[in-house]
Amino acid sequence: MTKQRVLTGITTTGTPHLGNYVGAIRPAIQASQKAEVQSFYFLADFHALIKCQEPNLVHQSTREIAATWLALGLDTDNAIFYRQSDVPEIPELCWVLTCNAAKGLMNRAHAYKSSVDANLEAGEDPDYAITMGLYSYPILMAADILMFNAHKVPVGRDQIQHIEMARDIAARFNHHYGEHFVLPEAVVDDNVAVLQGLDGRKMSKSYGNTIPLFLPEKQLKKSINKILTNLLEPGEPKDPDTSPVFQIWQAFATPEQTVSMREQFEAGIGWGEAKKQLFEMINSQLGEAREKYEALLTNPAHIEEVLQQGAEKAREYSRPLLEKIREAVGIRKIK
Ligand code: TRP
Repeated sequence: MTKQRVLTGITTTGTPHLGNYVGAIRPAIQASQKAEVQSFYFLADFHALIKCQEPNLVHQSTREIAATWLALGLDTDNAIFYRQSDVPEIPELCWVLTCNAAKGLMNRAHAYKSSVDANLEAGEDPDYAITMGLYSYPILMAADILMFNAHKVPVGRDQIQHIEMARDIAARFNHHYGEHFVLPEAVVDDNVAVLQGLDGRKMSKSYGNTIPLFLPEKQLKKSINKILTNLLEPGEPKDPDTSPVFQIWQAFATPEQTVSMREQFEAGIGWGEAKKQLFEMINSQLGEAREKYEALLTNPAHIEEVLQQGAEKAREYSRPLLEKIREAVGIRKIK
């Protein structure tokens, strides 16, 4: 029996922050340690081009995200860790799928529709600044997933629609050409914390409210000190359930530590003290990984080598599958 295959992609834009860590990286690394699943994690650098047309930023983000996952202990013997652009079978499959994806399906994609709505609201042409990359990106994502016949795809809620589109495209292909693709399922973990940012909204690069994951110690302390609080003085009871300080604490703490912080809030802990404890906990959990991260960034050739080995392993799956797909659609040697 083949192992259950779990796959997810990380778009290489921006620097990883605590929200990415808690919501995606930490659970993925834990899952990768299970022997009964085959996990595929990849740097979605072709996806990055949709959002970012600055070559240096795409490159820098790819390096930082790779170093982050390795520093946090991703087991690259067990998990297959690769860069999308190192697997040429993916863009080729993407084209074949493009020819099997209904345009009407793409018209319904949330990301595309919200860009159109924003244009209309601004009195612009509906297509203003919309690239074909943005429009067809669910098909590239389908290629990422179907290329490895992944069963489960852990994603955030905003991505569920894309997994459903991948299923649709796979089913349509299978119907026409025979059963080649597994129909993937989205896995959304409701227990995984969606972290609040400095201002109490969801931590997100687009809100500019993030705490980068591997800030040097001093800057981490400064950043934590900027988390939104209110004017209550030390000694006055505070509501943990509306405080981002408490919420971030909870994402890192053991259940016992969470209970104890809740009691401290109710007993009127000062904001300065609560933040000091938060800093100490995050710093002690991430300190060792931060050192590894910094060491990795001074040795980029090592990162590159790990990615090349990952691509080799990934291509052991993608090459034979693409062979079959070519055969199935009639792209064959003349004989
Ligand atoms: N689009 C996903 C995101 O923005 C990243 C991604 C690209 C992905 N390809 C994927 C996720 C394939 C899961 C499977 O989060």
